[in-house]
Amino acid sequence: MIIAPSILSADYANFADGVKMINASGAGYVHIDIMDGVFVPPISFGQETVAALRPLSSLVFDVHLMTVNPGHHIESFAKAGADSITFHLEACPDAAEIKGIIDSIHSLDKKAGVSIKPLSPVSLLEPYLSLIDLVLIMTVEPGYGGQKLIPECLDKVRELVEIRKKLGLSFPIEIDGGVNLETAPLAKKAGVDILVTGSSFFNAPNKKTFVEAIS
Ligand code: DX5
Ligand code: ZN
Repeated sequence: MIIAPSILSADYANFADGVKMINASGAGYVHIDIMDGVFVPPISFGQETVAALRPLSSLVFDVHLMTVNPGHHIESFAKAGADSITFHLEACPDAAEIKGIIDSIHSLDKKAGVSIKPLSPVSLLEPYLSLIDLVLIMTVEPGYGGQKLIPECLDKVRELVEIRKKLGLSFPIEIDGGVNLETAPLAKKAGVDILVTGSSFFNAPNKKTFVEAIS
């Protein structure tokens, strides 16, 4: 299991500290939640923050675009230091746009991820599964850390594991939202490969112990 702490829940007055805590925790990824105030109500942070944090960590920068027009932001986040860029299918008008964004991420030698919100069906993902490097199943309504994991979203993970097997594919499945000591074992059982965790990680007194406990 790969653990991806989300800096959305870090101290906004000191992101450098937050990244250093992630570096020391045994996590494999830094999950970076980009919010534009349109696709989701809050505005979080942007390219400049990613670029400023890049030199502080050799971990995978796992950028999650919760924005409209994700295609407009691929190059700038790739340049800022993203290793993997995930965008929402619900933010795109059609399959051509989605395939175009996946291509543009790959043309910049980055990993391409697609994500769906809790109410979106797994079937939405099917046309793209052979093209992508990662699927992010939201287990909360995107926009805020500290929410409760929606258990029905783990059914979508189980469904996606079956589809992946049937298609003979091997993309990792990531979940984001409400991951903690109670929900992590349920996610693992459902077949999740990467766990995003924000508030539980940054509230944990000992981050290394927490990462070990949910791995
Ligand atoms: C929702 C955010 C959060 C965050 C994780 O849009 O993506 O899910 O990463 O926050 P917690 O772990 O506090 O739910
Ligand atoms: Zn996220």
